[in-house]
Amino acid sequence: MSTKKEALVVANFKMNFNMRYELQHWFANFIKAKKGIRLDSTRLILCPPFIHLSSFIKKIRSKQISFGAQDCFWEQKGAFTGEISPTMIRSFGGKYVIAGHSERRRYKGETNKIINYKVTAALKAGLQPILCIGENAREKKHDMLFSVITKQFKECLYDVGRSRIKDIIICYEPVWAISANKPDHLPTTDEIMEAKLLIKKLLIQEYEGPVSEHVRIIYGGSVVSKNVSEVCIDAGMDGVLVGGASLLPHEFVKIAQTIDL
Ligand code: PGA
Repeated sequence: MSTKKEALVVANFKMNFNMRYELQHWFANFIKAKKGIRLDSTRLILCPPFIHLSSFIKKIRSKQISFGAQDCFWEQKGAFTGEISPTMIRSFGGKYVIAGHSERRRYKGETNKIINYKVTAALKAGLQPILCIGENAREKKHDMLFSVITKQFKECLYDVGRSRIKDIIICYEPVWAISANKPDHLPTTDEIMEAKLLIKKLLIQEYEGPVSEHVRIIYGGSVVSKNVSEVCIDAGMDGVLVGGASLLPHEFVKIAQTIDL
């Protein structure tokens, strides 16, 4: 077992696996792709749509694999038709939850305040939030990286105290770089490193001392096996959030293997 900090490779399957056979196909190919592959210092976190969480947990068993959800509500129980609570996710086997993904900001109108409620509720239920922050195309054009990240960081993590911050995973995900937004290029290694340093600085400012050392900072946006060295390893990131490529089991496993080396 290596002594380096465990890297994270998170699969955000988004709203896919519409048909049962698609799910079975993914499972069969993933099990084939993963066979004989040992990951020493990398954890896979699979975040399927809610409806498939139990199937994933039943079908895939490995010490190196954990499960999560793509969203949660900010209350734990009660008359909130259609919602899924952090407690439900936790008690049905999830350990992580993605919070603040740009697609939820865009299509569901989630604000930093709503995301903050969700982060707080997730922590309360014992989930580790994977908080997505990052600038969109317009903000990038106006050189707003610093102000956007600072605002999202402060507002989404409002009232998250020193004792809980180590349970947060921060994903720097420039919205314009997400594959669904059809980017014509990706951030350079230096740009990703710059965002990481900014997040580190904010952590040190807000939380002081060694606590901030424990927070993992990962990268998301069009990650594939061919670019994972530049966007993750060379940029000193602690892992990746993978959307499109997570639907291709061999590719997804290859990303994890590259990071694990
Ligand atoms: P992508 O998605 O890897 O397809 O760009 C990442 C995400 O939106 O989380």
